[in-house]
Amino acid sequence: MLLGGTNTVVITLEWSMSHLLNNLNTMQKSKSELDFHIGHGRLLDETDLPRLRYLQNIISETLRLNPAVPLLVPHVSSDRCNLLGYNIPKGTMLLVNAWAIHRDPKVWDEATCFKPERFENGRAEGYKMMPFGLGRRACPGMDLGQRVVGLALGSLIQCFEWKRVSSKKIDMAEGKGLNLPKAKPLEAFCKARNTAKELLS
Ligand code: HEM
Repeated sequence: MLLGGTNTVVITLEWSMSHLLNNLNTMQKSKSELDFHIGHGRLLDETDLPRLRYLQNIISETLRLNPAVPLLVPHVSSDRCNLLGYNIPKGTMLLVNAWAIHRDPKVWDEATCFKPERFENGRAEGYKMMPFGLGRRACPGMDLGQRVVGLALGSLIQCFEWKRVSSKKIDMAEGKGLNLPKAKPLEAFCKARNTAKELLS
């Protein structure tokens, strides 16, 4: 639980902030959504999350492009079966490349672009998205993970102004590792928003 629930959340946050810093219009749209639903008098809390659809779409789009567990976890067939005419023996190990499925141009429009809007009105849902796996062995921490990322990312956007450290775009290269880290850790400037100073003090 500790292994599965910590790095995944941290990595998803880092990728999502990196995308937002490269797409400042998206950051602004999310800020407007937060200001509209929550205002300036209080901090975002868990009960706000279902109304923050755009924030959820940003998280979904990040999990599509940068799934924190890109090959899911190896599964092994407990019995022999036949799949699309192929005989699969008992004990076959299956590795699912969710990263590749999430970027398949046959399935997604502009597959490598960061476009949270593709998730609007429940579009783009279904079996082509699997950042938490699918079926009985899917991630048991899915709801918790989505809430924690939503609360953390939403609070960062609600309370701070963010800027890249230079005019260059954030380097989105992927590093090595089971959890798909960024090759270069994210660095950014932030300062408290005027409207959030009281909340933060
Ligand atoms: C953004 C956050 C997270 C992502 C992207 C994620 C993703 C995944 C994926 C892809 C799997 C493998 C599913 C499969 O093989 O089909 C998995 C398994 C697992 N996750 Fe998560 N996870 C996240 C957060 C969490 C949290 C918060 C917890 C618990 C506190 C957690 C606990 C686990 C456990 C225990 C398993 C193994 C389940 C099993 O083998 O039956 N995860 N996760």
